[in-house]
Amino acid sequence: MNVKTILCRAMRRRSVWLSLMFGAISFASGGLCAQSGSLLLGSAWYPEQWPESRWDQDLRLMEEAHLDVVRVGEFAWSRMEPSQGHYDLDWLERAVRLAEKHHIAVVLGTPTDAPPAWLTAAHPETLRMDATGHLAEHGNRRQFNYANPHYRVYCAEIAEQLARRFGHDPNVIGWQIGNEYSDESFDPETKRQFQDWLKVRFGTLDALNRDWTTAYWSQTYDRWDEIPLPSGGGNPGLLLEHRHFVSDTWRDFQHVQVAAIRKFAEKRQFITTNLGGLGWSDNFDHYEINNELDLASWDDYVGQGHLNVARNGAMHDFVRGWKRANFWVMETQPGFVNWAPVNNALDPGETRAMAWQAVGHGADAVLYWQWRSALNGQEQYHGAIVGPDGEPLPIYPEIARTGGEFERAAKALQGTSPVAQVALLHSYDSRWAIDFQPHNRNYDQLEVLLGYYGTLREQGLTVDVVNATTPLDGYKLVLAPSLNVISAELAARLLAWVERGGSLVLGPRSGMKDEHDSLNVQRQPGPLVDALGGRVEQFYALEAPVPVSGEDGTGTASVWAEQLSAHTDADEVLLHYGKGNGWLDGQPAMISRSVGKGRITYLGAVLDPALMRSVLQRSTRAAHVEPEFGPLPPDVEVCRRVGDGHSIYVLINHGAAVVHAALPSAMHDLLGDGHSLTEVVLDAQGVAVLEADTR
Ligand code: GLA
Repeated sequence: MNVKTILCRAMRRRSVWLSLMFGAISFASGGLCAQSGSLLLGSAWYPEQWPESRWDQDLRLMEEAHLDVVRVGEFAWSRMEPSQGHYDLDWLERAVRLAEKHHIAVVLGTPTDAPPAWLTAAHPETLRMDATGHLAEHGNRRQFNYANPHYRVYCAEIAEQLARRFGHDPNVIGWQIGNEYSDESFDPETKRQFQDWLKVRFGTLDALNRDWTTAYWSQTYDRWDEIPLPSGGGNPGLLLEHRHFVSDTWRDFQHVQVAAIRKFAEKRQFITTNLGGLGWSDNFDHYEINNELDLASWDDYVGQGHLNVARNGAMHDFVRGWKRANFWVMETQPGFVNWAPVNNALDPGETRAMAWQAVGHGADAVLYWQWRSALNGQEQYHGAIVGPDGEPLPIYPEIARTGGEFERAAKALQGTSPVAQVALLHSYDSRWAIDFQPHNRNYDQLEVLLGYYGTLREQGLTVDVVNATTPLDGYKLVLAPSLNVISAELAARLLAWVERGGSLVLGPRSGMKDEHDSLNVQRQPGPLVDALGGRVEQFYALEAPVPVSGEDGTGTASVWAEQLSAHTDADEVLLHYGKGNGWLDGQPAMISRSVGKGRITYLGAVLDPALMRSVLQRSTRAAHVEPEFGPLPPDVEVCRRVGDGHSIYVLINHGAAVVHAALPSAMHDLLGDGHSLTEVVLDAQGVAVLEADTR
């Protein structure tokens, strides 16, 4: 079937823009969403688990639910290559064609998360060894060794076979490498690779011994092969470099497959990988992994309980920051999961609200895991869209409704992305450095970040969460909660942005360490002490909250507090501690100074939400951050996506009561009858997708 027929079919079924979009992408370089392409709803589908006679029925039910993309193949190696070198991809071709007949595009997964039995039986060195020396076995998944060169040859081969077959397939729009990179290996070969990697990184043992202060506890290394592969605690410098090694090893594991696909696949087919760990996991550097990919994607699950609006929104914004572009939610739960302590169902409407929250934060596709549970296997209880009988489950209508809405709003959302004036800095080095030595087990870096994020979102602001090394031009206000590792190079970059007019707020634990996880001799914030005109005299893990007060009001600090000192008259002390642990009493808790055309502020404590609210309200005002929407009833989340000349607002009522939300100007409701509105009424889990004309 040629491209033209597909386009005609698409145009018949869909508004003109979608097929034009697909057309446009086939000419332009880069990933689908990199150009904020179409808005897709879909599901994971496993044709290899079902008789072929069943496929058409499944695809028809998907089409009726307005699903328009499926991800296929990421666990089908034993079907694709039943024995070494014997490939059978005809079934997959038939599945792709049938999906096409139902106007459903396909994302192909490379099956490298679960190697076939014949492979690991013939090559046990391709199996992962855990930190206790136990070799993983066949019968599960993730049993492979991410560092094993032999396994990589097999991975590249199967990826190449798939790309040769489907690299020009008009109905294949993209590729997913493997599935949720997770577990490292601790086998002797990987240890040797780590030692070789350190040799390249440090050049000499003298440099390594210096940067890790190995004189401490006589850790000094005389030979590279003495250096351990850490699995628990250890020298902070060693632990940090191990994380870098793990990140590079996953990057290289992925690279052999990306390279194999790029050799045979059309540029219009994007390449991504679905990162798990609920977005926030840090077993490796997700920016590093995404560098070579066209599109960032993650697996968004709630698990037990219900949607934590701020946390999930923050994760979307975090994922958007991996490539600073729109992204995909490659997996999310159709109601409930099977792996949480209590696998409760989301409330009616909550699954739809979650899908729209993703779109509001920059997702251009949302796919459910999964279409139908395999009749046997480890995930029989997981939420699905159709039941064991192949008929729709109670969640099906809600998903179909969402699919219909996506279709209606897709044109207006085309080419739009969230645009932020405010950014939160994220650094894996800082996260690892703090988590290696928390000093207070209650110091939860995600909670600390959410203390900033949630408060800014309450103001209705779009927030980017970006890598600390990101160029910051375009932002008015940048906040850095827990930026523990500040090297001289990073400090210079931040300072240059401040001098050009940026407003930087450093949070607790900032600048304690350099790039080797060694203490900065200047004390905190390290290389930024001079620019701040002040520093941290001492940090304290708190047993109990300490009062804090200043021009922004009164409140408390809990978990962590730092005694600051201001060294110049130019420094303003904005908050002081009250009576606390005896050391903090009356000391500065927050200082600020104008530098060049900008400002640096240091907040040395984890504040209670109310005081944090007024502190950040003053910071956004002082940085001339403009409001994006206006006041909203509680529980209503507003997300803004901007394209040339127009803004789209996604409003979601995450509460249980009906709310009336006044609009800052007349808007059209894309999910309604298109009438111009100045107020919307949102039911519980209600959604409105509003277009404001900014021309
Ligand atoms: C992960 C995996 C899927 C499936 C789901 C279950 O995200 O990628 O294969 O196991 O979890 O929630």
